[in-house]
Amino acid sequence: EIADVGLIGLAVMGENLALNMESRGFRVAVFNRTTARVDEFIQGRAKGKRFVGAHDVTEFVAAIQRPRKIVMLVKAGAPVDQLIDQLLPLLDQGDILIDGGNSLFTDTIRRTQRVEEAGMLFVGSGVSGGEDGALHGPSLMPGGSPAAWPHIKPIFQAVCARTPEGEPCCDWMGENGAGHFVKMIHNGIEYGDMQLIGETYDVMKRVLGMSNAEMHGVFAEWNRAELDSYLIEITRDILGFVDKNGEATIDQILDAAGQKGTGKWTVIEALDHGIPLTLIGEAVFARALSAAKQERVQASKQLEPVVSEFKGDRKQLIEDLRQALYASKIISYAQGYQLLRSAAKQYQWSLNYGGIALVWRGGCIIRSAFLGDIKKAFDRDPQLVNLLLDPFFRDAVSSRQAGWRRAIVAAIQSGIPVPCMSAALSYFDGYRAERLPANLLQAQRDFFGAHTYERVDQPRGEFFHTDWTGHGGATTSRSYSA
Ligand code: 6PG
Repeated sequence: EIADVGLIGLAVMGENLALNMESRGFRVAVFNRTTARVDEFIQGRAKGKRFVGAHDVTEFVAAIQRPRKIVMLVKAGAPVDQLIDQLLPLLDQGDILIDGGNSLFTDTIRRTQRVEEAGMLFVGSGVSGGEDGALHGPSLMPGGSPAAWPHIKPIFQAVCARTPEGEPCCDWMGENGAGHFVKMIHNGIEYGDMQLIGETYDVMKRVLGMSNAEMHGVFAEWNRAELDSYLIEITRDILGFVDKNGEATIDQILDAAGQKGTGKWTVIEALDHGIPLTLIGEAVFARALSAAKQERVQASKQLEPVVSEFKGDRKQLIEDLRQALYASKIISYAQGYQLLRSAAKQYQWSLNYGGIALVWRGGCIIRSAFLGDIKKAFDRDPQLVNLLLDPFFRDAVSSRQAGWRRAIVAAIQSGIPVPCMSAALSYFDGYRAERLPANLLQAQRDFFGAHTYERVDQPRGEFFHTDWTGHGGATTSRSYSA
């Protein structure tokens, strides 16, 4: 029997995605480099279901209907290239290779070109939602060879998550690396959302001295309103989780964060584009600082903080934290979308910003009610320059400003780091500032290096130099710069 689709890589994500596809009526051929995994799967979770287990790549390829659709779920990096090398000679024109891992989008751009040159089609797809998502409905962000989309759409939109309104959380993102780029931004935002929740938790715990049970209650309440999201929901559950000895698991976990690099990639990309993605940047650095556990333990003995005890209204601070969390989150998404816009321009993708919000609305790690509001903002204005300029978000931030500032002040006075919340507020205060102190900066550059400056009384693009010291001469770095 011939399979509708093939899947290579039977780790947790692969197995679950294969089971998901089968449950939607597709016959799935499966292969894994260590073939014992294939047998284990076929005799285990796949038993009695419409699977074809293959023991070598040739057998695997032969088992799939043409044009073949082959999903690869292997470790990002060299293994993807090796697999492509192995598969290409066995494929026919028009067959479709799909990389569902967390690949770097520039690799996907390169692979799309390579596979297309060989006469086949390539798709790099973001897959989000963890194991559970893969099994019950992930958020899918495919991009690559446009001709592949009509062929994979029926499968992708059958297995993906849906919004509460029933729309599929999967759409075509754009050419070559667009899908993996959007997934990278998703992960960056995921880092930011997680760090913001962490900062909130830290203030609750260390400024207010709240117990896990109390915090569990607060997050449960927050999850019922505007902060309704998967990450708030799991935070609630984590804070309520007690092991079999009656101990709170959260308190047994070492405070040193791991990371696999997708957040870092997002920030590197932002630096290359000159986009102030400050919140996600702080989130990546906060993980780095946390990872230096030993050094922090040493420093904590020597660098005692000067803190003032919190004497304000406790209830008010909890409410302020909620406002700060929400307002900061708006900033993070505003920044993330600015990077998407800049990348779309540079890589010539016509990204559908509302469509991206819709795809993130369900199934993925950052899924939330909030993304429904972002979708609406882009429906109002598909070319919205900054989320903060949309009337809904403008009002949402403005009504929370006071609480947001109070929460940050309380944290700072108590010596609790809130890098993401405060970076968000600084961005907001910078973005809404008609004038920034960059006039001084330009003066300094011109003073020490004759870098020239533009003037407030002259048109943009005209540059001037002052002989600040009286012995600088008229040469500017501009007039001789190569
Ligand atoms: C998802 C997640 C997923 C993975 C991250 C974790 O969308 O399902 O983002 O891709 O959990 O890679 O990243 P870190 O290990 O870097 O935190």
